[in-house]
Amino acid sequence: MKEKVRIGFLGLGGRGQGLLKLILNMADVEVPAVCDLYDDRIKAGINIVSEARDYTPTGYSDYRQLLKREDIDAVIIATSWQTHGRITAAAMRAGKYAAFEVGGASSVEECWELVRAYEETGIWCMMLENCCYGELELALLNMIKQGLFGELIHCQGAYGHDLRGEITGGIENRHYRFRNFQHRNGELYPTHELGPICNMLNINRGNRLLTLTAMSTKSRGLHEYALKNKPEYANVDWAQGDVTTTMIKCAHGETILLKHDCSLPRSYSREIWVQGTNGIAVELGDKIVIQGRSPEGGWMEFEWEALSKYIEEFRHPLWTWFREAGVKGGHGGMDYLVQRAFIESVKEGKLPPIDVYDSATWMSITCLTEQSIYMGSMPVAVPDFTNGMWIDRRPDPKCRYSLDAVHNDLF
Ligand SMILES: NC(=O)c1ccc[n+]([C@@H]2O[C@H](COP(=O)([O-])OP(=O)(O)OC[C@H]3O[C@@H](n4cnc5c(N)ncnc54)[C@H](O)[C@@H]3O)[C@@H](O)[C@H]2O)c1
Repeated sequence: MKEKVRIGFLGLGGRGQGLLKLILNMADVEVPAVCDLYDDRIKAGINIVSEARDYTPTGYSDYRQLLKREDIDAVIIATSWQTHGRITAAAMRAGKYAAFEVGGASSVEECWELVRAYEETGIWCMMLENCCYGELELALLNMIKQGLFGELIHCQGAYGHDLRGEITGGIENRHYRFRNFQHRNGELYPTHELGPICNMLNINRGNRLLTLTAMSTKSRGLHEYALKNKPEYANVDWAQGDVTTTMIKCAHGETILLKHDCSLPRSYSREIWVQGTNGIAVELGDKIVIQGRSPEGGWMEFEWEALSKYIEEFRHPLWTWFREAGVKGGHGGMDYLVQRAFIESVKEGKLPPIDVYDSATWMSITCLTEQSIYMGSMPVAVPDFTNGMWIDRRPDPKCRYSLDAVHNDLF
């Protein structure tokens, strides 16, 4: 077991700087190297480290130089969607465990390259899908494992986030979302809802994603927003439809519905929905029905109960522990939990709870939905990145952060 993990930190935009501050609060982490393309962000990263610690890290603009360092155990990558895959694969090939921020893949080949880099080197990577550690998502996983919903039939979720300001401000802020929305049309950001849903449905562990079909609406929201707020971009022809919906079919007959919804006025929600032979939970409106527990009667058959009441009763043991220890970190605490899952896997030399096959599968949805949309919503096959291993995968290493099982005995 390693006492300390020495991390190279890549990508120092808004997210990177936030995560860097978060990990510097962990006594078992050192950050001797930081990297970004921009000088001002490298300086900002160096300052963040030297203010928190009694040393000054080295700054790099070329990640390949950082990866040559022999004193680094692992890297955290918070760069753009288009660069995560190649930097992660290069890191694994340089012998560094790699955690990388969420985002969709640009090509299926990018996903296979992650799988190959892992299988050829034995060095793993982990997508930092923080929503897998959300309190709601983990409580639902706990309820599913206890059989409350019966056999799962259908799940859905969304990335519903009004990002019109961020997207249209992307040129001034040097942010990649502008160009992605300008040039692409697909489920650009699937993993916040898909990751937790795949855990619920045992994807890559006895079940798998088989096929998908996707559809996008017309694009109006960003244009209307730019007309009023960013007239300099009023003539941009945005390729991304305002709402993109994707249906995925799983090997055991379940369906998953995803919605990407970032260009219209709305309030944030991941709109999680879980439905099985014994009940249903709906995040929007805080609703649940569990047969045998929820009040019955009248023409509606069942009365809705408050989902929040069940979250309290079936709180995942990780969250019970976390609340008692004091919730910390951004996004309600889940950023801290996903970082600890990564750091502790490196320290203990164990495979992480979100592995390369999960990461590749979840990321691939973006480029597959683009293919489907451009071919008139044609069904597209989802590759089996495990090459058949999903059929009889061994359980993941047992830890508090496990997502394939709930280990009450570890708390
Ligand atoms: N999990 C979450 O809740 C969450 C929240 C926000 C952002 N994110 C993710 O974090 C990532 C970064 O988001 P952001 O908003 O900070 O973006 P950003 O564009 O503000 O920052 C990305 C940074 O990466 C740098 N970069 C790009 N290519 C690089 C390369 N080859 N080498 C070194 N540095 C490089 C850029 O210069 C930039 O400073 C994205 O993938 C985003 O989806 C996740």
